[in-house]
Amino acid sequence: MRIHTFPAAVCRQLYRPSLVRIPRPSLASRQWPCAIRYNSSENPNKSTFPPEIQLEGGRTYKTDSWMNTPASILSAIPRHLHLQPDHPLSITRQLIESRFPGYAYHNEYFPVVSVYQNFDSLGFPPDHVGRNRTDTYYLNKETVLRTHTSAHQADTFKKNETEGWLISADVYRRDAVDRSHYPVFHQMEGARTWDRKSVEGGGMTLAEKIWADVEKIPKHGIKVEDPNPTIHPERNPLQETHSADEIEAVAAHLKRSLEDVVVAIFSAARLAAANAAKQAGLPSPTTEEEPLKVRWVEAYFPFTSPSWELEVEWQGDWLEVLGSGIVKQDLLNNSGVPDRVGWAFGLGLERIAMLLYSIPDIRLFWSTDPRFLTQFSSTRPIQRFVPFSKYPACVKDVSFWLPTSSSAAGGNTPAGPNQGFHENDIMELAREVCGDVVEDVRLVDEFVHSKTGRKSMCYRTNYRALDRTLTNKEMNEMHAVFCKQLVQKLGVELR
Ligand code: DAH
Repeated sequence: MRIHTFPAAVCRQLYRPSLVRIPRPSLASRQWPCAIRYNSSENPNKSTFPPEIQLEGGRTYKTDSWMNTPASILSAIPRHLHLQPDHPLSITRQLIESRFPGYAYHNEYFPVVSVYQNFDSLGFPPDHVGRNRTDTYYLNKETVLRTHTSAHQADTFKKNETEGWLISADVYRRDAVDRSHYPVFHQMEGARTWDRKSVEGGGMTLAEKIWADVEKIPKHGIKVEDPNPTIHPERNPLQETHSADEIEAVAAHLKRSLEDVVVAIFSAARLAAANAAKQAGLPSPTTEEEPLKVRWVEAYFPFTSPSWELEVEWQGDWLEVLGSGIVKQDLLNNSGVPDRVGWAFGLGLERIAMLLYSIPDIRLFWSTDPRFLTQFSSTRPIQRFVPFSKYPACVKDVSFWLPTSSSAAGGNTPAGPNQGFHENDIMELAREVCGDVVEDVRLVDEFVHSKTGRKSMCYRTNYRALDRTLTNKEMNEMHAVFCKQLVQKLGVELR
């Protein structure tokens, strides 16, 4: 999950850049994996995309002027890290799943979804920033790589197979480059609903039934801060068709279920941290006597109301762990289950796995290096990851003038194909040219020329390979290609 640079209140209005971001295939595997084929003789590295692409399982998609998904991103689709035995993401997924007995698991939904599934079905307004091509990978105007597992909520509710379900999957977002963000990452979505009809004539109200289910959730002894009322008319309103007593019960079920998950995860993480410290002869970073602290904060999502985020105190800081809320009734009605009422949540698996194992860099999840992979086992207690080595970083700056038609980087741009300059385009080019060797890209300086009115920007790129020392020569060459592409593809003028 994103460490927010906006105040929390502002962030809450935005489409949550979700809970975590991930790494991409290494440079070597950035060739065309056989499962992905552009049905065209065109060079995929050119910015013109082929008219049709073929993905895993022979699925073909026509592209159009909205297409902005590079081959390196598509090559992540067949990896299925969350299903790879003994992979830390898979172990983390299973640990969470084990806290939801009786729920159905959907772990193989394909990542290509319609704009309708990803946004409209969830009530995202037509001008929502998350729909922009600067933020989302499109194959064509109607088709995207899902930006969150919520894209499958409506379809899963429609199946109406079980009262509770969990979805784990890879999700895709154009975003910053740093050690906790990667354009492909994994989320887990969960929901639990109750059928109003199931209590008819049974002598029990729906609220009473839900409270009885709350009692079945394992009890914990941790301190939970939850100072806000469940329902607040302005900040966190009750939906029109809901009754307050039912929603109090649903919210209690949601909160107790997710507190139980957090206790399981953070107890394991604290134990792993304490064991590692003991082995090193150091004091434990979180003393076991100090109780785990969690808190609920009000939030906003277009598809829930009221909504909350759960935060956990971890090594002195409050950390956002998940988003959740009472499912919008429209979503359930449109999914053909108008008698159901319930809750949903979404969390980022990388962030949780990074905490659990103390994994310092999100790119590591994509590593096929045995020095990484052999450190994890689903049959051993969670142990901290031991970095195999720290290779030196190589820092390079690039300064340029924006094209005169562009005004700002990082701002909102129109959703369509002809948009202006956006910071995410720089991030993407850095990844395209340098692959996983780029650790971090950040804006270090910007100014507007007083006479010409042109805007200058300076980005600092941190290069570091996870498995070897980079030579100055190769980094200079790579950085030169990056600079050249900035000129060719974004039309900037190097200073
Ligand atoms: N889809 C949201 C995201 O990616 C996370 C989320 C929030 C999922 C609230 C939910 C929910 O199901 O109820 O940031």
